[in-house]
Amino acid sequence: MGYTIGLIRGDGIGPEIVTEAKKVLDAAAEKYGHEFRYVEMLLGGASIDATGVPLTDETITEAKKCDAVLMGSIGGDAAVSPWYKLEPSKRPEAGLLGIRKALGLFANLRPAYLYKELNAACPLKEEIIGDGFDLVVVRELTGGLYFGARRTEVLNGKETATDTLVYNEDEIRRIAHQAFQIARKRRNKVTSVDKANVLDSSRLWRKVTAEVAKEYPEVTLENMLVDNCAMQLVRDPAQFDVILTENMFGDILSDEASMITGSIGMLSSASLNETSFGLYEPSHGSAPDIAGQGKANPIATILSAAMMLRYSLNLNTEADAVEEAVQKALTAGYRTPDIWSEGMKKVSTSEMGDKIAELL
Ligand code: IPM
Ligand code: MG
Repeated sequence: MGYTIGLIRGDGIGPEIVTEAKKVLDAAAEKYGHEFRYVEMLLGGASIDATGVPLTDETITEAKKCDAVLMGSIGGDAAVSPWYKLEPSKRPEAGLLGIRKALGLFANLRPAYLYKELNAACPLKEEIIGDGFDLVVVRELTGGLYFGARRTEVLNGKETATDTLVYNEDEIRRIAHQAFQIARKRRNKVTSVDKANVLDSSRLWRKVTAEVAKEYPEVTLENMLVDNCAMQLVRDPAQFDVILTENMFGDILSDEASMITGSIGMLSSASLNETSFGLYEPSHGSAPDIAGQGKANPIATILSAAMMLRYSLNLNTEADAVEEAVQKALTAGYRTPDIWSEGMKKVSTSEMGDKIAELL
């Protein structure tokens, strides 16, 4: 069948890792007899360089015409990049937040799974790793601190900055439904993470989540404070199945969850709206310090492409095949520098892509 896939190559290591993910997608298309048409679009720093703004109406219009969009990461080194001399609303990250909002991508799924092969790269002690862990962070993506009113002003003679954390019950309800539906296909447990001992928004979050839970009697709901969750992730990650949380907490916890899988270069991500459309991107950033050196790990982007096959194109066999090919490449000992350990074969970004495409 034919599918239209938007490609946002992005900044830093973005173009390199997207090239590898496309390589793997093309191998899957060939093996299973599909036709993937790619439409290139700009976002972030690359868009600023070409058009002056991080997100154009054209990118939004083109993205809406696609079945799904695959992207690398965006952004640069704030200390040196000219993009960060622009006002905040014109910087690369504003483009990413803008496209999430414009496409209604409220549900961000970030699975964190420890491959046995990567035990040596996992920073946790062996007795904590045990039989590994397999969790997914379900992060609300279009509300909270990221989208509440913000301003910087002089108040009583002092420069003062305000950010606002806003959630209404509908926003909480729809992301909670997502989490429970995902838990039903996994191990039937949702840990809802908040800061209800301090924040009103968290108290509403707890109340609405408890209401939604009644519709899913087979799923256990547990509430956990975010500081405790940060600690539990490195103390006993196997206790988690689905972590449901608001935008900012999800941003932070998903970086932590990725690191315990061995490398931030392993964590994929899907951002979904109410339809089957999604934006798929690695959870990690654009790593400008290693851009263009062939050191980046393309696996997070390749696994994001697998999520795209599964969630937006409904190609489950193909998604399984890509995930298995990643597993086989790891079993065969291929490692990019971030996950390399003694005795393993060190490969570059493109060699890793080649191996995975070959093993597919
Ligand atoms: C992420 C990133 C973004 C976020 C940045 C680049 C704005 O950290 O996708 O996790 O905070 O959402
Ligand atoms: Mg982040």
